[in-house]
This record gives sequence, structure tokens and C-alpha cells, in this order.
Amino acid sequence: MTDTASAIVGENAVAAVRQPIEKAWGLPAAAYTSEEFFRLEQRKYLRKMWMAATFEAEIPEPGDALPLIVAGLPIILVRNSNGEIKAFHNVCRHRGMMVLGEPCQGLKQFTCPYHAWGYGLDGELIRAPFFDGTPTGIEKGDLDTDAYGLVPVRCTVWHHWVFVDFGGDAPPIEEHLAPLLEFMNDADIGAMRYAGKVEWEFQANWKMVGDNWENYHHVYVHGGVFAKMSDDIDMETSELWSKPQHKGSVLTLRRRIEIAPSYTYKETGLPLIPFPEGKERVTAPNFIFPNVEIDLVRDNISSIIYEPVAPDRTTAKMGFFFLGGAATSQEHAEGRKTAMDRWLGPERSKDANDGVRNQDFRIWEAIQIAKGSPAADANIFSPLWEGNPHYFHNHILDYLEA
Ligand code: FES
Ligand SMILES: [Fe+2]
Repeated sequence: MTDTASAIVGENAVAAVRQPIEKAWGLPAAAYTSEEFFRLEQRKYLRKMWMAATFEAEIPEPGDALPLIVAGLPIILVRNSNGEIKAFHNVCRHRGMMVLGEPCQGLKQFTCPYHAWGYGLDGELIRAPFFDGTPTGIEKGDLDTDAYGLVPVRCTVWHHWVFVDFGGDAPPIEEHLAPLLEFMNDADIGAMRYAGKVEWEFQANWKMVGDNWENYHHVYVHGGVFAKMSDDIDMETSELWSKPQHKGSVLTLRRRIEIAPSYTYKETGLPLIPFPEGKERVTAPNFIFPNVEIDLVRDNISSIIYEPVAPDRTTAKMGFFFLGGAATSQEHAEGRKTAMDRWLGPERSKDANDGVRNQDFRIWEAIQIAKGSPAADANIFSPLWEGNPHYFHNHILDYLEA
């Protein structure tokens, strides 16, 4: 029986994660390297949650469609003729071919490449050429077209993000994301506009993302962005300026700008993100379980959607959002570049060490190699800094042990 985490990694390892943080160990190395553990996560965790699938702006017009793999499952996202986004399993009902192989624009219907069955943008089966010898394949009435449409996946759009829920009974998305809005002080996400994306693959387990939701590493890993420890901790009292917090499915490193000293910040000339009257301006990098980060800086939101591909492989799609016209105007091109350089590095290379993200990826890939060692099981957390990863590990176990 390998239907629980403890059946794979042992009851002692699970019990160690369940300890109060002062005594706890993190998930053991096998949780990062074992194919069996990865499959369990897909089945009992990733497919039971709202998974971020893509940015809404990637399929802007009716007939635009995107094939994706989410939680290991092939899906189609499409904007139908009413402008609504729909999700379907990308599996032909005839013999199981993937119906859509690449992103398309202006589609009127999907045509399966194998025997040319045609499906409408709402998934309905329209034709099955010569299935019964007739041109449309359905004229003799042998084929029950109602029963063989594309299989829908529960799907919702929340601001700029498209989420899917394979299990179909995750709580409403508003509930899932309520702590996010709270951590962001209701910043006006809707006023932001999509400016584009970059994509990478890194050779590490997807859980490195949540494991990294702490400030402790900032000054050591992100030199030049987080310049000195006193940006993160009050050297007099040992209190953190931005307390790591977690609630529901969200981890944050929220910083109240008015009281906290600022890390190195390059002026961009970009308009600031609007906040409601009376709400304090904050910055807040947030990780929303299981696979999306939404990072609020002063003048932009960046967001990475992660897809766990294998125990040691993850893809990342990072989108950038700026206020209104600043997302696309020539006037703000230089400001956008400055803002993006902070994350991506001026070289825009995953292998450079010049931006927050490629700096993190290097660390994650190195940790992944170390996870192969017999010395990698007994990891401990700093109770001051690392409550978030401890909470994350427990959250995963809540699902895997159920
Ligand atoms: S498998 Fe799609 S038409 Fe045959
Ligand atoms: Fe980092």
C-alpha cells in the first residue's frame, strides 16, 4: 500500500514533520526524489486543489486555445465564442489521441489529428468522419454524440489567472484566495495589465518553491537586491521587519513599507499599484498552494505558475503586470526593463546569477542534488524565520495522509 506519505517515507519521518517547529524536521529527502511520492502528490494533493493553469491574457480572443499539462494531465484551455474560458481533458473520445497539439488562434472547432473527429469550442462532438460510412459519421445515428464530447474540467478565471480543479470539489476560489487579498491589503489587482512572460525549466522538485518562502536566505543568495541583514531584521531586538505569515493555502513575506526599512530598490518611474483608501501600502511576495506565486512589489505584480513535471523537474512560466497603460507604453519601456531585471537579471538567462529568480533556481538545483545523499533527511527550521516551509510541509501531509 503506497496510498499515504507514511507508507512511502515511514511513520517516523511523517511524525517528525508534525512536531512543533522547534523540534520538527522537514519532509525527508525521498519526498523530493521518489517517483512514487511524486505520483502520490499528483493524485492526492495537486489534483485536489485549485491549480493555476495559465494567464488569462494568453488566450485573449474567441477561438484562442492552449494545450497544457497541469498536474501531469493534458488539458485544453479555450476561449469559446461567448468569450468564456473553458477547460477540457485533451483526450479524444474516439481512441484517446491528444486533440490539440499546439497553441491556436481563431479556431472554430478542434479537429483530432488521428481520425479527424471534430469538437466545438464548448467540447461538443460535431463530426466523426466516415465512422458509419457517411461524410459526417453521425448521419445514421449510430454514434451518440451527446455522450462523446470532450470531458470538461472545472475551471475558473480570477483576475489574470485561470485555475482548474480536477477533483471538482475544491472550495470556491474566493475562499481559496481570501488570505491572499488580506495579505495584499486589497491592492487593486484588476487595474494591472499583462505585459508578457518568460518560461524556464529547472532541475529541482516543485516543493522548493514553498520551501523558499522565507527571508533568511535573502541577503546571502540575492546580493545586490537584499543588501544587508538589517533590511530584514531589527538588529537591536532580533525582530523581523516583514514577518513570514501563512493562512489557508497562502504563504506570504508581507512587508509594511511605512515601518520597514527598504531593501535596495531601483527607481523605475512606473506608476504605483493602487490601494483602497485607508489601506496601508505593502509589498507582499505570496505563494499560493500548490503552484502559483503572486508577488506584489511597489509598481508591478509578477507571477510564476509552476508545473511539477517529475520529482526533479519543474517548469516555470513567469508573467509581469503593470498598472494600466504602463504595461505596454513606449514611455515606460525602460521602467519595465528595470523592474524585470530585478527578477530575471539583465542577461535574461537562467544560468546567469544576476536576478532573484535565477539565483533561487541555482540554489534549488543544488539542493536537489544534495537530496540524493543519505545525510539529507534531518533538516531543521529556524522558528524565527522558517515557519512558512514548516506549515507547507504539514499542509501537504494533511492531504497525503488523509
Ligand atoms: S483518436 Fe481522435 S479521431 Fe480517432
Ligand atoms: Fe529567494
